[in-house]
Amino acid sequence: MSPLPRTAGVIGLGTMGTSFARNLARNNITVSVHNRTYAKTAAFLNKYGNEGSFAGFRNLKGLVQNIERPRRIFLFVPAGSAVDTLLARLRRLLAPEDIVIDCGNSFWKDTERRKQRFARARMHWIGCGVSGGKKGALEGPSLMPGGDPKGWKQVRHILTTAAARDFHGTACVAYLGTGGSGHFVKMVHNAIEYGILQLLAESYHLLKSARIPLPRIQALFRRWNSGTLSSFLLESAARVLAERDPHAHSYLIEHIQDQAGEKGEGKWAVQEALAMGIPLPITAAAVFTRFSSQKKEAREAILHALPPRQARPRRISPSSLSRALPHALIAASLIAYAEGFFFLQKAKKQYEWSMPLEEVARIWEGGCIIRSRMLEYFHTGYKRQSNPKHPLALPNVADALIPALPSLATIASVTASSLIPAPAFHAAFDTYRSLSAIRLPTSLIQGIRDLFGAHGYERDDSPGIFHTSWDA
Ligand code: 6PG
Repeated sequence: MSPLPRTAGVIGLGTMGTSFARNLARNNITVSVHNRTYAKTAAFLNKYGNEGSFAGFRNLKGLVQNIERPRRIFLFVPAGSAVDTLLARLRRLLAPEDIVIDCGNSFWKDTERRKQRFARARMHWIGCGVSGGKKGALEGPSLMPGGDPKGWKQVRHILTTAAARDFHGTACVAYLGTGGSGHFVKMVHNAIEYGILQLLAESYHLLKSARIPLPRIQALFRRWNSGTLSSFLLESAARVLAERDPHAHSYLIEHIQDQAGEKGEGKWAVQEALAMGIPLPITAAAVFTRFSSQKKEAREAILHALPPRQARPRRISPSSLSRALPHALIAASLIAYAEGFFFLQKAKKQYEWSMPLEEVARIWEGGCIIRSRMLEYFHTGYKRQSNPKHPLALPNVADALIPALPSLATIASVTASSLIPAPAFHAAFDTYRSLSAIRLPTSLIQGIRDLFGAHGYERDDSPGIFHTSWDA
């Protein structure tokens, strides 16, 4: 590994950039910082200036000149046109072999394009997925870099120093391949994040619908957050549910609007999966549910026209629900991770990325938002078998899933009969059922397509494409 550089730059002093600049300074690196508006740079220096060695600059030229060559400059600016604007300005100021590391949630195809523009000037553009929020960026995020191997070599040491640690104490960073591979992996990380957030929200809704009081729901979430289910998101859900509202003398959760926002990564993942012909039903359910949640007026009109009581919902038994739910959550979460890993397997092949999947599972063990005990199954599984037909078929993933499946079936049936919406649980259940069915009814689709459009079909007893003369 090349020696740890003594200087580096951070551009963009929002939440993540601020934390990451402090992280680098804690590792004895002199950090030059710049923000589009100088007020933010001044506020940063004022608040954190004595934590380490920082130099603040009003303009990019000053920042660039203060960094030793080859320069390492980290971008923490909003994905999209702001990155292109910076790229154009930096390209004029930097020298061959300098490296820019885009740490925002950039769209992976934008990263491919930017990387090529930079390469023409013999500079390196690394697209690096960063996960962990404010705390992670400061204390150690999960880092997902992709780009040309030469650029990676130059940033390997600094990224390894700044990253979180996995279950065995190794840095949560690995080289994932050329081009936009790092941002692709971050997009899939977020796709899984969407699925798991939706599963947790559905679990809360089910428990609440069974009239289990909020303090008891918090206690259940806290209790489940051990063993296989132990994860950052479950722990966070328990914390959110426990938060009191100082204004209303009740729990905060009762006053947060039920309309979920999004910044695009879930949508991109679904669009990409559609373009590649890869199933991503749990993320799709989660993304579409966020969209539905935002359509408040439509929801109110439907509630008025079609109140659920007309469909005679069944009552839920609180005790059987709290017994089945943690196991169903294990099953559905495993399927959500597997859906993401299958997507990565296919992308790795299609785009010819090196992307070692056991490493992807490993670097998600620490620092990131979807860190969870469950990742160990995928880490070990991919170590033994790098290209399974499907990650659910990895022996230790299957072993963990099998005992939890009856509970997933229970939750699918309870939510249906009690009319509680549970799109992510149902997507997980249907994914397992469809993928494990001996024979799917899609043969009928093929038959009908051939009848109305002479699209042809394959037979299970002889090769080739067949067509039936339906009108004969
Ligand atoms: C992370 C998160 C982070 C953030 C998303 C939120 O890994 O640190 O994924 O990137 O949570 O940007 O995305 P949405 O606003 O789309 O939910």
